[in-house]
Amino acid sequence: MKVGVIQFRPECGAPGRNAGKIIDLLSRERADLFVLPELSLSGYIFESREEAVSLAQTADGTEFDGISSLASERGSTVVLGFAEKCGDKLYNSSILLAPDGSRSIYRKVQLFSDEKRVFDPGDRPPEVVAVSGVRLGMMVCFDWIFPEVARTLALAGADILCHSANLVLPFCQDAMITRCIENRVFALTANRIGTEKRAGQQLTFTGRSQAVSPKGELLVRAGTDSEETLFAEIDPK
Ligand code: ACM
Repeated sequence: MKVGVIQFRPECGAPGRNAGKIIDLLSRERADLFVLPELSLSGYIFESREEAVSLAQTADGTEFDGISSLASERGSTVVLGFAEKCGDKLYNSSILLAPDGSRSIYRKVQLFSDEKRVFDPGDRPPEVVAVSGVRLGMMVCFDWIFPEVARTLALAGADILCHSANLVLPFCQDAMITRCIENRVFALTANRIGTEKRAGQQLTFTGRSQAVSPKGELLVRAGTDSEETLFAEIDPK
């Protein structure tokens, strides 16, 4: 199967424009599976929980309709991170849009630093979603530092870890190689690029999105500051 990892710079506070950009990026070349960064629709730093709620979507929200239709038309599965509102809860989630129009959600368990001011931690264990016989597991960014998240997905039968990220520490890309070796899984890490300066914080995201094989081979890796879509041919069997 052909997999695509999309590295881009989401625009802060502009979910509509980011969704449009994602559709444009997905339209350029076909793949069976695309993974995009964490919080791809909203940007990463929020002034407050209220601001994050105002930029959040529900899992069944119409904001995903365009991406979901394209996924169905093209026979692609698309995984992307977003701020998910659900009742009075707010999660840092990933959504998996399958070609049959179904949607699956993972809610980030291991919140990073100031995210705890804004989001609720995930309320359920990570699960595996089978699409055309390939078992996909979602994890979000800082989940990488806790070996249990990748191991839980591997024990549930995951072939591929779909890892949407907004990485700021230098170690993750190399640690994900270890996660692949110790669990015998593929991992697709889609990171963002750029700097956000808001709410008294400044963060620079490290790019270097990548695809890694179960033997720890680095199949492709992006640069630190360029918008890129990486492709790899893999055999999950
Ligand atoms: C992170 O978890 N976004 C660093």
